[in-house]
Amino acid sequence: MMSYRGLFLLLALSCIAVESRQLKGNPYHLSSNNDIEGKRWAVLIAGSNGYENYRHQADVCHAYQVLRNGGLEDENIIVFMYDDIAFDGNNPRPGVIINKPDGEDVYDGVPKDYTGEDVNVNNFFGAILGNKTAVTGGSGKVVDSGPNDYIFIYYADHGAAGLLGMPSGEYLTAQDLMNTLKQKHAANTYKSMVIYVEACESGSMFEGILPRDINNIYAVTAANPNESSWASYCPGDFPSPPSEFDTCLGDIFSISWLEDSDIHDLRNETLQQQYQVVRRRTAVDDVDFSSHVMQYGNKGIAEDTVFNYLGSNPNNDNYYSPHHHHHHHSSVTTTPHIVSQHDASLLHFWHRYHNAPEGSPRKTEAHKELMDELSLGKHTDQSVNEIISVVFGPEKISEMLNTVQSAGSPLVHDWDCFKMLVKSFKKQCGGTSRTRYDMKYSGAFANMCNAGVDINRATQAITQACSTNSPPP
Ligand SMILES: *[C@@H]1O[C@H](CO)[C@@H](O)[C@H](O)[C@H]1NC(C)=O
Ligand SMILES: *[C@@H]1O[C@H](CO)[C@@H](O)[C@H](O)[C@H]1NC(C)=O
Ligand SMILES: *[C@@H]1O[C@H](CO)[C@@H](O)[C@H](O)[C@H]1NC(C)=O
Repeated sequence: MMSYRGLFLLLALSCIAVESRQLKGNPYHLSSNNDIEGKRWAVLIAGSNGYENYRHQADVCHAYQVLRNGGLEDENIIVFMYDDIAFDGNNPRPGVIINKPDGEDVYDGVPKDYTGEDVNVNNFFGAILGNKTAVTGGSGKVVDSGPNDYIFIYYADHGAAGLLGMPSGEYLTAQDLMNTLKQKHAANTYKSMVIYVEACESGSMFEGILPRDINNIYAVTAANPNESSWASYCPGDFPSPPSEFDTCLGDIFSISWLEDSDIHDLRNETLQQQYQVVRRRTAVDDVDFSSHVMQYGNKGIAEDTVFNYLGSNPNNDNYYSPHHHHHHHSSVTTTPHIVSQHDASLLHFWHRYHNAPEGSPRKTEAHKELMDELSLGKHTDQSVNEIISVVFGPEKISEMLNTVQSAGSPLVHDWDCFKMLVKSFKKQCGGTSRTRYDMKYSGAFANMCNAGVDINRATQAITQACSTNSPPP
């Protein structure tokens, strides 16, 4: 019997009270975009593919709906999603994506700006920079912003120390993201920028890195630099997805800001208030299953209303949030039972296996998928131990695997070393898995670089270890 500890976590939920809304229309409300001086722009990106990662694209589609309801136009919203979920053979509702158990279709109307292989680091950076000649494929839409404009960037996927996943090509590194933000700043093509990141160890993308001289960027991450972020609405959870779904529908940080934005008058809510709501909902009582939502960059921007970036749905006018009433639980402030990002993918494979009829070809296939994932994980674990042993000696394994930077310090000093080792390890040991188990060890490579590793020696050790342990599927 395989045990998924996330499955067995039970949270006491207080009864769900439905807030009564004051739906008084505001007669002066024409278009929400008229109330700020510049334009609003958004870049939304899901870094994963594969049905087992349903939740990341669901989060991104939901974010699109929030922005559309907020009054943004499609020409100002750039969506990156692999787009393999809605019509995947496993989807019990073909053509539909939901982001919560009783949720509506969030896929409807989502622009397919960059899909499939066009979801990559190069296009993501080109879109942010507003450089049409830098992007290839896709709609060619970019953030063609001016100095008075507001930019919102939202990312959802697997991450790891210093990295965010991408469905094709290399991972996105913290240093490359920072260089892009510096270029955008130097071009003087925005007033202020807000970045929300859902990923494991997402704090490491900004901790000690987001420079003080770029003072008009504010970032919020699902997790601190050294902890997992968590999936939610998973099979076996409460609340659980409809029984025909064997995959998680969302991620806890993401659904927290999205569901908060769905119902509130965002003219009346500051980014700081939203951060507090999201932080509270993401930090469940059991520390083993929670993450710390973090703020980086210019925290003065947190005094802006959410409205400046996301607009606001006119249906929510005058619906003021119950932020101050800590004991007043609504469906938005209760915390669903959650599962770690990595286990969430395994959970899907396990459910597919478990639910397939005994003796069917589907059962055999699902069994193979599950075993491949588990053996790839084992191969990766063994390889990393061997690499550290060869380069530093076996007594250093634990130190290299477990050291975390102190608060305020960047993950790594020599980013070129880090990028080289991560890239080499992905190539040699990564296999074809969409769960990106190899990412898990980027922190160990950062520690090796910080300890002054010889890069050639380390890449040789990577090649050696990855090929001698049983090969990845
Ligand atoms: C836009 O991208 C192209 C291709 O990468 C590059 O050659 C050019 O310098 C970029 N333009 C600006 C203004 O950065
Ligand atoms: C939201 O509305 C309440 C009640 O009218 C008001 O006291 C508060 O200052 C408003 N907050 C913002 C950020 O506008
Ligand atoms: C790393 O995580 C621990 C708790 O898991 C936390 O106390 C610490 O502040 C984190 N480090 C940083 C740099 O945030």
